[in-house]
Amino acid sequence: MNAAEIDSLTAQAVAEAGAAGTADAVEAVRIRYLGRKGLLPQIMAGLKDATGQERGAIGRSANAFKTQVTAAVDARLAALRGAIQQGPVFDYTRPGAWRGPGSMHPVSLVIAEAVRIFARMGFRVAEGPDIETPYNNFEALNTPDYHPSLDTTDTFWLGVGAAGLAAPPYQASQLLRTQTSPVQIRMMQSHPPPIRIITPGRCYRRDTTDATHSANFHQIEGLYVDRQVSLADLKGTLASFAREMMGSGVGVRFRPHFFPFTEPSVEVDFSCHVCAGKGCRVCKHSGWIEIAGAGMVDPRVFGKVGYDAEAWTGFAFGMGVERIAMIKYGIPDIRLLYENDARFLAQFE
Ligand code: DAH
Repeated sequence: MNAAEIDSLTAQAVAEAGAAGTADAVEAVRIRYLGRKGLLPQIMAGLKDATGQERGAIGRSANAFKTQVTAAVDARLAALRGAIQQGPVFDYTRPGAWRGPGSMHPVSLVIAEAVRIFARMGFRVAEGPDIETPYNNFEALNTPDYHPSLDTTDTFWLGVGAAGLAAPPYQASQLLRTQTSPVQIRMMQSHPPPIRIITPGRCYRRDTTDATHSANFHQIEGLYVDRQVSLADLKGTLASFAREMMGSGVGVRFRPHFFPFTEPSVEVDFSCHVCAGKGCRVCKHSGWIEIAGAGMVDPRVFGKVGYDAEAWTGFAFGMGVERIAMIKYGIPDIRLLYENDARFLAQFE
């Protein structure tokens, strides 16, 4: 290789190093030109065979090759490292990005508030499992096995195939509780009277979801068993709860109804908080919203749990937590409660 050829190789190597886009590409240039099996050893070998004047020129070009290519490679590596460092740098002297403390879900807020209100009236929290026996969820609550709520279209049965239920329909299976009422049974089976409990919890029904229905919702069950408990006690307790939960202006009304486990039974409405009883979309223009079912514990339920129905009386209620949350906070659609949209949830601090 003569001096001119070496010079042109030098220019080529410098250009290639300058164009390399990554540290690996620069390293490849270095190996190709300066490595032990690269072009530099060949240039040096050529120097041995050269003579006189030629030898001096080749020597100078070879030296220039070595220093210039080395410098180009080093410069390119430094430039690439610099580019990386100009990207996002972790600067631990800067304050962290504060994402906010989160907030309580409206369903949790209502449950916490209800627990607080009822605690002041002497109620303690008792809980039960989401997976229940048909005995606790229906039979002990005086609900006959031909009742439509046992149907596979209403209740989530566990381990029941598409073929449906055998007769007697359900004894072998378990279910997702359709109400918090079975906790009444658990509580009375395991504790002698008197009893004063509330039970917040999840319930499940095969409802089609719409603005006011969800297959999964929450109830707060109440049970008060003592001597000489009256319907007036029930009314006073729920009216007092309503005022504390919704504000002193709230109206409460009882409508006669039927539940298998209470006699007499009532449905309990609160006046609509959103329109102050004038009528709006949330209350379907009636001014009232159904919040709870309630009544005096049926003596047959006492019989199922071994309480003396002559000696003991009681009231019970079960209210819808989502319903309360919707009117308390003016939430027009129950689905908002389950979508976990942070923009919605952040409003409940
Ligand atoms: N469990 C009933 C329901 O889900 C509500 C209910 C009604 C609960 C009357 C009670 C009660 O404790 O006494 O529809």
